[in-house]
Amino acid sequence: MSAPTDPGALPGDPAGGATTVVVHPDAATLAEAAAARLVVALLDAQAARGEAALVLTGGSVAAHVYGALARHRARTAVDWSRVDLWWGDERFLPAGHPDRNETQARAALLDGLPLDPGRVHAMPASDGPDGEDPEAAAARYAAALAAAGGGRLPRFDVVLLGIGPDAHVASVFPDHPLDAGLTVSAVRDSPKPPPTRITLTLPTLNTADEVWLIVAGREKAGAVGLARSGASAAKAPAGAVHGRVRTRWLLDRDAAAELR
Ligand code: 6PG
Repeated sequence: MSAPTDPGALPGDPAGGATTVVVHPDAATLAEAAAARLVVALLDAQAARGEAALVLTGGSVAAHVYGALARHRARTAVDWSRVDLWWGDERFLPAGHPDRNETQARAALLDGLPLDPGRVHAMPASDGPDGEDPEAAAARYAAALAAAGGGRLPRFDVVLLGIGPDAHVASVFPDHPLDAGLTVSAVRDSPKPPPTRITLTLPTLNTADEVWLIVAGREKAGAVGLARSGASAAKAPAGAVHGRVRTRWLLDRDAAAELR
């Protein structure tokens, strides 16, 4: 009897956790299903260890998931006071700027949740203590992560990621190498505006128990297909992220159009 193979596995999948691919009929269903899945993941983490840690991402698909979660009746089952929120990347803009991922997440979801403010770990803003120095801001966030993890990275139960049409995740872009020795890096030449950002690096993202790539839209199908084809991390960062336990590709039918 051969060992059951993972139905989502492809030759290019990284070693380590299992890979699951789920295709939903449309973007609205994807957002609702991802929100429901997130509630269960947070509940399971809290049942297992009394708290949960979630890494948020930016972008329009993520915003739809946050909106679905904000409306999800089961969200009240989560003890939000024992959830740590981190960001996978941030646009390096003044605090409260409408284009900041933090601003958009707060508007879509966070401001309506009974969170512990001390457990909401936003990335530094460009008008913060480091001023217009993204490298210093990245180092500050790295220090915050280390402090939370007792000298190591804290445990991330789930990292949420969107994918760009170029197969970027967070602010890790193709052919824009970052110092993988850093846990958090500044980005000064982002192809996706705004140009200056802060991002967790791929090794940091890959420490998560689970990485969820939530992707909708036909314009992302090429990036999904490239990432799932085993392309290099340099060409398709989305194909180089994986959870230690599981990597979930949560797609709508359009984004899955170029999957074999
Ligand atoms: C950002 C995001 C970025 C985003 C993807 C997908 O700061 O822009 O973190 O990585 O998730 O570009 O964005 P859309 O969902 O809007 O296509």
